[in-house]
Amino acid sequence: MKSLILTGFMGTGKSTLGKVLAERLQLPLVDLDTVVVQEQQMEISEIFATYGEETFREIEHDVLCRYAAQPDLIISPGGGAVLRAENRAVMKEHCSVISLLARPEIILERVNRDTTVRPVLENRKPGQSKLQRIEEVLTQRMPCYQEADLLLDTSDASVEELAEQVLVWLKQQAGEMTWV
Ligand code: S3P
Repeated sequence: MKSLILTGFMGTGKSTLGKVLAERLQLPLVDLDTVVVQEQQMEISEIFATYGEETFREIEHDVLCRYAAQPDLIISPGGGAVLRAENRAVMKEHCSVISLLARPEIILERVNRDTTVRPVLENRKPGQSKLQRIEEVLTQRMPCYQEADLLLDTSDASVEELAEQVLVWLKQQAGEMTWV
């Protein structure tokens, strides 16, 4: 099977849904930020602070290209992996791309629940709230997330419901392919 890649802004539930799908489909889950941290022996926030965002995006691109080309994986990239057109093309070429969306207020609530340092949200203009920063970046990135094969709003659905929707969609895709 083509690998499934779950794109989406921070806090849209990529890791949570990824875990459930990996279990249901009996496939390995690859969290690309975790791969970056393991390979670089540095936290993502440290990479941003030491080398800057551009270097992080280069590392992210390299890791994405290596994993996206492999079949039978559930891949959870960082929320900014869609920024490069080249990354979006690699995902589309090799994977079924599912974008997870959520309302900004829900994203704020979810990112405030854990202690992960998120450089993109910390990088705010004076007086800009975290919610305003989320809205700003989300608006910039929305066209990239919308290039997916399937869009899922995770704001009000349980992870089990979302997993079910993905499984139904995958079956439809497989059915359609039989008739091609
Ligand atoms: C980023 C999202 C983070 C991480 C990095 C940059 C982004 O991943 O890759 O902090 O640009 O949106 P998550 O989406 O898993 O939080």
